[in-house]
Parts: sequence; C-alpha cells; structure tokens
Amino acid sequence: MQINQDMAMNEKARTVVLARRPGPDISVDDFALVDQPLPEPGEGQVRVRNRYISVDPYMRLALSDRNGVSAAKPLGEAMTGGAVGVVEASRAPALPPGTMVTSQFGWRDRFVADASAVQAVSAEGVQPSWYLGLLGLTGMTAYAGIEYILAPAAGETIFVSGAAGAVGSVAAQLAKQRGCRVIATAGTDEKVAWLKDVLHLDAVANYATTDLAAFLARECPGGIDHYFDNVGGPTLDAAITAMKPKGRIVVCGAISQYNTPNYCAGPGEFFKISEKGITIVGLNVGMWFDRGKEAFGDLAQRVATGKLIWEETIVEGLDNAPQAFVSLFSGQNRGKMVVAVDPAR
Ligand SMILES: NC(=O)c1ccc[n+]([C@@H]2O[C@H](COP(=O)([O-])OP(=O)(O)OC[C@H]3O[C@@H](n4cnc5c(N)ncnc54)[C@H](OP(=O)(O)O)[C@@H]3O)[C@@H](O)[C@H]2O)c1
Repeated sequence: MQINQDMAMNEKARTVVLARRPGPDISVDDFALVDQPLPEPGEGQVRVRNRYISVDPYMRLALSDRNGVSAAKPLGEAMTGGAVGVVEASRAPALPPGTMVTSQFGWRDRFVADASAVQAVSAEGVQPSWYLGLLGLTGMTAYAGIEYILAPAAGETIFVSGAAGAVGSVAAQLAKQRGCRVIATAGTDEKVAWLKDVLHLDAVANYATTDLAAFLARECPGGIDHYFDNVGGPTLDAAITAMKPKGRIVVCGAISQYNTPNYCAGPGEFFKISEKGITIVGLNVGMWFDRGKEAFGDLAQRVATGKLIWEETIVEGLDNAPQAFVSLFSGQNRGKMVVAVDPAR
C-alpha cells in the first residue's frame, strides 16, 4: 500500500470529469480534463493504457438530475463507459503486459484496476475500436432489436430512424439482409445519400427538411410492419401514425429527447397504440449480452465477407472526447463515434 501511495506522487493519469450539469445546449464546457494519481498495480491488478474510448448517447442520461432511471452523476466524477486498451504493467499472471482488454472505466488515458474488472479480448483479425461498437454495445443492440425482438420477415416493411448512426446503420442492414423493405431517416443530405447509395436502403428522408408524415404515407402506402426507434419525439409520433394494425415497435433510443427536462415522456400519439393493436417492446442492451457470442460471431463474419458495412467516425485525442460526445447531439458522426486516445501502442 505504501508503494502505491509513493507512486501516486509521481505517476498521473489524464481523466475527463463532469464539471457542471449540462442544460439543453450541452457543451464541451460541461466537462474538464484533470490529472489524477496513478498508483502502481497491487497484487492481482493491472495498469492499462487505453487505445480507444467510446462516447455514446446513453451517457447523457446520467448527467442531469431528472426523472429518469439513471441516478445523476456527481460533479467532478469521471465519465465512465467502454474503452479498449493494452495492459502495460501487471501483477495478475492471467493478463501479462501486451494483453488487449476492454473495460468500463471510461474517458481516461490510463488506469489501474483489479484483473477481474477488465476483459481480455483477441486482437486477431479485428480493429481494437470494434470492441466499442460492432463487437460491443452497438452491435449487440442492433442485433437484439432486429434478430431477437422484431425478427421481421422477408417482404415486410421496417422503418429505422437514426439510420446513419452506429446502431441504426447495423439495424438497417440486418433488416435489409432479412429481405425487408427498409425505410429510414437521417439528419443530413449526405447521410441520406450514403444510406441510399452505399447501404442500398429502399427509401430515405432527411428528417430535418422533410414532412415525415407525408414521406411515410408515400413510401409505405400499406403501412409499416416494424419500427426500430432510435430517436423518439416527433419521429416516433409519425411512425405510430403510419404503423399497420398489429405492427411492432422496438424502443431502442430517444436521442431527440435526451437534452430535455423529461426525456422519459411518452409519445403524443399514444392511444393509437390501442386503436391499432400495436406491440411496443423495450430494448435494454444490458439484458442481451448472454447472446453476445452468437451475435458478435455473426456480425464479424458479415463484415469479413463484405455483407455488412461497419462505419466509424474517429476523433483524435482524449482532450477532444467532450467535443466528440457533444457532437453526437448535432449528428456529426456517421456510424460509431469513437475517440482514439493512443491508437499507435
Ligand atoms: N436501448 C439500448 O440498450 C441502447 C443501446 C445503445 C444505443 N441506444 C440508443 O440508440 C440510439 C442510437 O445510438 P448510437 O450509439 O447508435 O448513436 P448514433 O446514432 O451513432 O449517434 C447519435 C445520432 O443521433 C442523431 N440525432 C441527434 N440528435 C437528434 C435529434 N434531435 N433527432 C433525431 N436524431 C438525432 C444524429 O444523427 P442525425 O444526423 O441523423 O441527426 C446522431 O448521429 C440512441 O438513442 C441511443 O441512446 C440504446
């Protein structure tokens, strides 16, 4: 213990903490980069140097004190979440230096933790950053929503919002490969063109410049069988209105509401759920990782064989993690947003 304290005087880790509670205009000024002591690993511990960290919309939910499931993160506390890195010092025989590991300690360049708190992963045949997306939270979410919950049949119509994002782009492609007609929305004309020309979705609209009700009525004259909701808000209302009787909705995300005082509020068109006999199913990815081996194996295989396009937007530098995170809310990413902390090691 004495050794740890002595080393803490010398070694530092850079960490991003929550500096103040964000308002509706979340800002990089809501975060601060601080130096924290970095002890030597004790018995059974490892010191890890992160290569990539993840920034995800869900992280917004705990930043304000609101009526939600997540307790508000205390000010000054480190931003947590997925990271992938390399063991650089070890007192745990199962994790020698050089082992690639994933963890949930978040926005920091290095950390010391018990070996049991990190997971060794293979560096063979995959990009390390994929563990934060395709082979992590994102891939599992899209796979669970399409393959396990909605399981749309060939010929059915599915609407995917947020389709140029990490979850949405995978969900839309999985649905397309099941033989569905895939209708989608995204926030810029460039994303719309990518979804049409590269992912070959059937009809795509820029929700910022399109009358969604008219778009869905035109493109789905017989109605929507399935809706994969990533955004909530007015898009969810338009989808409910365009659903077929006995249609199914998976509630994955509501990013359009995350900066509002009550992100848990329901849709405005709620009673149409009853009138149309619609089924709404909640998706919490944390409840699906027991199917991860099957899902990640299938996703990796699809990418390896060119059937699935996995897209990333990579921002360089831990200092830019707040900017990367904030820009999720103005749609600056295509595919998964990740931050390269130290990709060369
Ligand atoms: N339920 C779960 O367990 C689970 C797990 C993972 C993710 N999620 C949810 O799934 C959704 C997508 O997550 P992701 O990680 O894949 O993020 P992402 O889609 O890669 O990034 C967020 C995207 O949201 C869009 N957006 C931002 N503000 C918006 C608004 N006001 N209205 C409509 N779209 C808006 C932006 O794209 P545009 O340019 O298109 O606006 C942005 O690129 C999020 O809601 C997230 O919370 C849920």
